[in-house]
Amino acid sequence: MSNNKKLVFSGVQPTGNLHLGNYLGAFKNFVSLQKESECIYCVVDLHAITVFQDPKKLKENILETTAGFLASGLDSNKSIIFNQSSVSEHAELGWILNCVARLGWLNRMTQFKDKAGSDKEKASVGLYIYPNLMAADILLYKATHVPVGADQKQHLELCRDIAQKFNNDFKSKNFFPLPEPLIQKNISRVMSLRDGLKKMSKSEESDYGRINLKDTADDISKKIKKAKTDSLPIPESEKELEKRPEALNLLNIYSDITKTSLKKVLEETKGKEFSYLKERLSEVLIETICPVGKKLKELTSDKTYLEEVLKKGREKASKKAEENLKKIREIVGLL
Ligand code: TYM
Repeated sequence: MSNNKKLVFSGVQPTGNLHLGNYLGAFKNFVSLQKESECIYCVVDLHAITVFQDPKKLKENILETTAGFLASGLDSNKSIIFNQSSVSEHAELGWILNCVARLGWLNRMTQFKDKAGSDKEKASVGLYIYPNLMAADILLYKATHVPVGADQKQHLELCRDIAQKFNNDFKSKNFFPLPEPLIQKNISRVMSLRDGLKKMSKSEESDYGRINLKDTADDISKKIKKAKTDSLPIPESEKELEKRPEALNLLNIYSDITKTSLKKVLEETKGKEFSYLKERLSEVLIETICPVGKKLKELTSDKTYLEEVLKKGREKASKKAEENLKKIREIVGLL
């Protein structure tokens, strides 16, 4: 690593429906990191438009995602919070990295395959080169640590490959640090409540697959009641959960929110019906998520304040981005 200073960067797409997966997989970690490190958190609007977005809705979602950061506990005086398109250096470095990354590397990206679906020819070019822009987001600030959910791990590996190739090609040893993913250990992937093999996602058609941060207590208890499980009772050991993805998911969520190891949760609930766990889970989810949702709704109605937060963040981010891009342009040989 080129320097020893820890710099944290992460991004979230403003595509609506912030959910429990974002909260447990990313936001919670963002908040704990801001206590000890310099952190930059970005609403990645240029990533969002790789799939068509209604322009009016996109603007609202940019502000809502900003509100989601703040409602989860981020402090705009401690962390830099801004939206990606307001710092044009992201796009410029994105282009430079398009010329560093190899086609073969992008061809391996599973998220592109998932998102493009069966008709790849119809996907936007932006969606294909999305991981290069993500690498640019991180490397523009020479970030050293990136808190993300497990679904972003492959993109982070690509980012490290790009950083390494840039450093080698331009004989600039250690110029870009190789960023480390920070992935939550016990709940790196929150799964859909309707299918334990699919991740909880804002794009799942049915709202019953996810707990949204804006859900009411009533919504949460209904969704947990309806959540898919199997007919067996809660087992004694983690091993017995291997082929029971829905059961494992509910237990993992409960374990994470109550800060109790899965082993201990199993000790306390073994042999009981899932309805027992579901009741406890609803209670703790309501306790944790509803205050965040309430704050999120309050903040969303104060557009001026949210715009102020983004403006302040943009000024700070721009300064760093300009300085680093200047060096990058020199290294590449651009006049
Ligand atoms: P996005 O917007 O899909 O998700 C934001 C964050 O939430 C995490 N996450 C989950 N974690 C656990 N379980 C889930 N079901 C779940 N769903 C979402 C994601 O892993 C992510 O951390 N490509 C990124 C955005 C991005 C970015 C970056 C991230 C753009 N540039 C630079 C880090 C650094 C994305 O689409 O996240």
